[in-house]
Amino acid sequence: MNHLFTPFTLKSITLRNRIAVPPMCQYSAEDGFTNDWHRSHYAGLARGGAGLVIVEATAVSPEGRISPACTGLWKDEQQAGMADIAREIKAAGAVPGIQLAHAGRKASANRPWDGDDHIASDDPRGWSTLSPSAIAFGGGLWKEPEAMTLADIQRVQADFVAAARRAREAGFEWLELHFAHGYLAQSFFSVHANQRTDAYGGDFDGRSRFLLETLRAVRQEWPEHLPLTARFGVIEFDGRDEQTLQDAIRLVQLMKAEGLDFLSVSIGFSTPQAKIPWGPAFLAPFAERVKQEAQLPVASSWYIDTPELAEQVLAAGQMDLVMVGRAHLVNPRWTYEAAKALGQPDAAWVLPAPYAHWLARYTPSQ
Ligand SMILES: Cc1cc2nc3c(=O)[nH]c(=O)nc-3n(C[C@H](O)[C@H](O)[C@H](O)COP(=O)(O)O)c2cc1C
Repeated sequence: MNHLFTPFTLKSITLRNRIAVPPMCQYSAEDGFTNDWHRSHYAGLARGGAGLVIVEATAVSPEGRISPACTGLWKDEQQAGMADIAREIKAAGAVPGIQLAHAGRKASANRPWDGDDHIASDDPRGWSTLSPSAIAFGGGLWKEPEAMTLADIQRVQADFVAAARRAREAGFEWLELHFAHGYLAQSFFSVHANQRTDAYGGDFDGRSRFLLETLRAVRQEWPEHLPLTARFGVIEFDGRDEQTLQDAIRLVQLMKAEGLDFLSVSIGFSTPQAKIPWGPAFLAPFAERVKQEAQLPVASSWYIDTPELAEQVLAAGQMDLVMVGRAHLVNPRWTYEAAKALGQPDAAWVLPAPYAHWLARYTPSQ
């Protein structure tokens, strides 16, 4: 059997294969509520055969949305729509996951296809943003955030816990905390964004505190038998990479001790000055390092988009799952294509029976 099609068990959850769809914002919600778009989108992805489908960055509070069109779980009324999505994903045989997020100083932005920049100050659709320090990200994300008070910090941590409870009650079985991509948690860890002089800034312990406390609080809410995971930028590509990586791995070790079960290894995106060496599976060596040094199962994404490459990074032991993002937007049945390409026996049966029965007997005429 190919590595890609070997089941993966974490806590009480078993994924049918090693293919995960990473969170991908749809920028299609209103007031945080999901709708028909989200339901059909996620059901389609799960029916394509992936083992894990992680619902997009879902805000734990209104000011934690990247854009006005992001999904949310900051109020109980938003649970029902999410429960429909979790149920559809599960019915299709995938494990339903969700990413909980607070966008920090990158919040209050226009949708990517409307500019991807901060909403103008005089536009009532925008809001004031929160970050460890009053330092703007820069470029199109020019808005200066408010430096969080201790009360803000405690409130946002409580928001994460409440959203985790809602996610669980909605039927999600895999929780990913968004500690990456220059959003709030990553900003606490980042020397670019965090210049606090209190217990939540300064040295390694100070810059790690928000992440560790948030994880600890969520772990108490999220059932012990279900995977609690995080996505974390372990490198910024800002010229101080080895130091960041060593600090990040040290923090991952501490997170593991607090109950983290799995890490999705990603990029910090805390500075517009980063020089990122985009290329096929370019994060795989960093994922491997985290896996080895923190002794934690890991995944990564970013250009792991062919079956052969996905199989290769798994066979090399660089990661435990592959996160295949945009290739799933191209083809939601990427898993089926991968099964065929890798010569997996009964490839069609990675799909649900109403598709598989026919495709198992069908050879296209050209
Ligand atoms: C449309 C879109 C939305 C995204 N939204 C999120 C998100 O909500 N949370 C997140 O952590 N990453 C997000 N990402 C990043 C993806 O999860 C993934 O890391 C990225 O697409 C690279 O993987 P790929 O090369 O397989 O596409 C998004 C990417 C895309 C293309």
